[in-house]
Amino acid sequence: MKLGTMLLMVLALSASSMVQAADEIVIKFSHVVAPDTPKGRAAEKFKQLVEERTKGKVKVEVYPNSQLYKDREEMEALQLGAVQMLAPSLSKFRPMGAPEFELFDLPYIFPNYETVHRVMDGDVGKHMFAKLETKGLHGLAFWDNGFKQMSANKPLHTVADFKGLKMRIQSSKVLDAQMKALGANPQVMAFSEVYTALQQGVVDGTENPPDNLYTQKMHEVQKHLTVSDHGFLGYAVIVNKKFWEGLPADIRATLEQAMKEATAFERSIAKAENDEALNKVRAAKTTEVYILPNEERAKWRAALLPVHKEFESSIGKDLIQMSYAIAAQVQKEKVAAK
Ligand code: LMR
Repeated sequence: MKLGTMLLMVLALSASSMVQAADEIVIKFSHVVAPDTPKGRAAEKFKQLVEERTKGKVKVEVYPNSQLYKDREEMEALQLGAVQMLAPSLSKFRPMGAPEFELFDLPYIFPNYETVHRVMDGDVGKHMFAKLETKGLHGLAFWDNGFKQMSANKPLHTVADFKGLKMRIQSSKVLDAQMKALGANPQVMAFSEVYTALQQGVVDGTENPPDNLYTQKMHEVQKHLTVSDHGFLGYAVIVNKKFWEGLPADIRATLEQAMKEATAFERSIAKAENDEALNKVRAAKTTEVYILPNEERAKWRAALLPVHKEFESSIGKDLIQMSYAIAAQVQKEKVAAK
């Protein structure tokens, strides 16, 4: 979107919220994925809880599928106050001046959801949200999507299979390094453009959890998918700090409670929705699904682990070490529980 068009949209949207402002608070919640995804469904859940509990005093308007803004534009729109709430993927925070969030992109750092949740809900997540405050943003919650899988129009069984492939990535330096470590050629692209880019061969492949792949119909334009679980995709629900602090305290408390419940709901459905999406991809028979065997996975890991070291200074060595320690603790508990 051109800057002029963007400014016009901002003015139009702020004018419309001024008309409504006299008697109600409007929260425009923009996101880029389909409504029937964990993020899309949780946004609707939040809307329903908020509107019920504030008896219509707060109206939440959810705009899915990049309907209002694409990835980078929605960040700008939040800072300008044209929308009030977003849930961008954790891979999209570096341009906001918060490279720490790229911890979540480090390949093979999280062996399971338990580790991810402890990292999100503990000191690491708190540190990241504190950083957002310095950027005029306020973090409300961390949401799941799931573990990412690789797809392309050729089989991706070994690291060598990536050589020279153009792979779409989100705007994360870690993801850029990850694809380069595999020998691929990473291309940053907005989520809304990926289907067409795959269809037209602008890029050869991509990575995403199955549910994003399926709901964007990428399986129709990708012949091969490798279940590699090589990385995690999650979200931070964020608001404009000035907007948030300007809300009446009782409304803020109601919104916080609704967000807590929407978050529990989101996390409770994310894994099952991804499992189901993978089954739907299989059933569509347009994409061959390959489960990466353990020996090969070890080789992918070996190729990708140097990326952790490369980003120690921009992400923070302490945050990386804390995540390793949490993963080890979760593993220890799992063994003890057997
Ligand atoms: C992507 O751009 O691939 C994802 O971040 C989209 C999303 O929000 O899940």
